[in-house]
Amino acid sequence: MKRRDFINWVGLGLLASSLPVAIAACSEQTATPEAKSTGDSGWQKVGSVAELDKSGQLLAKDSPVGAVLVIGKSQAANLIAVNPNCTHKGCPVTWNEAGKKFTCPCHDSEFAADGKVLKGPADKSLKTYTAKIEGDSVVVKS
Ligand code: FES
Repeated sequence: MKRRDFINWVGLGLLASSLPVAIAACSEQTATPEAKSTGDSGWQKVGSVAELDKSGQLLAKDSPVGAVLVIGKSQAANLIAVNPNCTHKGCPVTWNEAGKKFTCPCHDSEFAADGKVLKGPADKSLKTYTAKIEGDSVVVKS
């Protein structure tokens, strides 16, 4: 083997061995802790079970998937999770436990637990999420 061929082989070997390390370092720097999923593809942590159980409502304004309002308790079979921004003009909706619906204080729109419009002026459903308890965390998936 000529000297030049040997140097080329050594250079390629060094490049190939360092590439996985460089890729791993880049992916670690671009993923913030909040943006990491909890292991199950697509699920994002929006808060803790303790926060949810305190009042039966968990509002995460800046979660990895955006604003999320989760209704329920950790023992509940089904959690309700929506984007709490009214689709009319963006006021934050609140949960009416007695009526099992979301109401908007600004212009009185109402939304069912599944986000669908019950009463206008809003004409689009609230964005909904699938929510579940995972250990001590409340996680959602869009
Ligand atoms: Fe909600 Fe107008 S902003 S009804």
